[in-house]
Amino acid sequence: MLFVGTNRSSFAVCSGGVEAVSARGAMPSGFPRTLQGERLPVMAALLHPFTRPAPHDPRTIVRAEGVRVWDSNGKEYIDGLGSLWYCQVGYGRTEIIDAIAEQMLTMSTYNVFAPFSSAIAEQAAQRIVDVSPFDDPRVFLCCSGSESIDTAMKIARLVPQLKGEHGRQIIVTRTRGYHGVNMGGTSAQGIAPNRENWGDLLPHIAEIDPDDIESAARLFAESGDRIAAVICEPVQGAGGVFTPEPDYLRRLRELCTAHGALLIFDEVICGFGRTGSWFASQTYDVRPDLITFAKGVTSGYQPVGGVIIDRPVCDVLESDDSFLLRHGYTYSGHPAGAAAVIANIDLIEADGLVERATTVGDRLSAGLHALAGDGALAGVRGVGAIWAAKLAEGTDLTRTVAVRDHMLESGVVARPIGDSIAFCPPLIMSDTDVDRMVDTLAEGIQANPL
Ligand SMILES: Cc1ncc(COP(=O)(O)O)c(C=O)c1O
Repeated sequence: MLFVGTNRSSFAVCSGGVEAVSARGAMPSGFPRTLQGERLPVMAALLHPFTRPAPHDPRTIVRAEGVRVWDSNGKEYIDGLGSLWYCQVGYGRTEIIDAIAEQMLTMSTYNVFAPFSSAIAEQAAQRIVDVSPFDDPRVFLCCSGSESIDTAMKIARLVPQLKGEHGRQIIVTRTRGYHGVNMGGTSAQGIAPNRENWGDLLPHIAEIDPDDIESAARLFAESGDRIAAVICEPVQGAGGVFTPEPDYLRRLRELCTAHGALLIFDEVICGFGRTGSWFASQTYDVRPDLITFAKGVTSGYQPVGGVIIDRPVCDVLESDDSFLLRHGYTYSGHPAGAAAVIANIDLIEADGLVERATTVGDRLSAGLHALAGDGALAGVRGVGAIWAAKLAEGTDLTRTVAVRDHMLESGVVARPIGDSIAFCPPLIMSDTDVDRMVDTLAEGIQANPL
């Protein structure tokens, strides 16, 4: 089962990753305003990501504090999605803001390409190593999840080249997987609509069933000596919050090991506490070779991503003294981002937020399961502090968008994905606010019958 570019067929695709257009309609409502009444010419210039370019009417967020955000009309929202699956520590944390400002005053910016390095970038990498599941790994830094994915894909193809295994190029991906929007991640993602209309994508990408490990076993049996890596979100986030089937990840690890392929865990959402451990590889007790991260590494206070590379892969990269790693971003290891990484990890530790993910998640899951028990939901999926509520059979995106819009009107942010509503709250959320999210979901469902 080998597919090339956008033409590959796929298993049943859940329409994740794409934010649906608001039911509030297509008419621009003039310029939004700040709380102080200043005009914000948002629609004039900004081309919004994953949004219809045609005029529409966004809610303009002007302030954020704790787990709450406020729009330009003064409306308050509980943020049930941690902005975009990333804000572990909540908004306005002066510990991180001050650390960034202090770093800027000392050394505002400098690169880490040869022959340079910076103390703050090295400290940030070490801080990530300290909480990682690996012994003696190294960390590559970049500025987003998409860059981390393209970096991991390139390393996965580079390693066999360095070992003389020139036929190993296939990157295997799971249906429903979201791996960002750079060319690598676009090619390797399992959400078909996101691959369309961009022309030819990367060759040598193969897609497997996300739940049935036999699909992977068949592919390895056919093409094992040509597979460079499998890329996999331990918990699929943007595709709809799907936890792995029992043993799926362990067997994927075994297949990769048996056939000499690398296992990449895309922990851009899962990493930094979200699943109740620092990394989902610990939650599921499966050790990949590479871990991609972003989002929670700074709780979004600075745009940082990266790849944690386990020692055996580092050994290959380091084996030839004359080899030059021809990959890097101008802002890899940027001081502002590095300072944010350190302060954010310190804060997650000080506030015990890895443990709190389970507390917040247990409360949320109990509330959602109670709704399911009452017949308001057809199912509940999740782990740690990332959950999805599946609405009644027959629900489509139009209905979940309507439910989401009702929730927004009631002051709660959540995300519609296919037939489900997803939650990924800041890990500091109180029980009262979690309960309010669940109540608001129930009201939204009741107000929008099938
Ligand atoms: C699992 C996963 N990988 C990669 C990405 C891409 O990250 P970014 O949007 O920072 O480029 C995302 C973003 O949502 C993600 O959820």
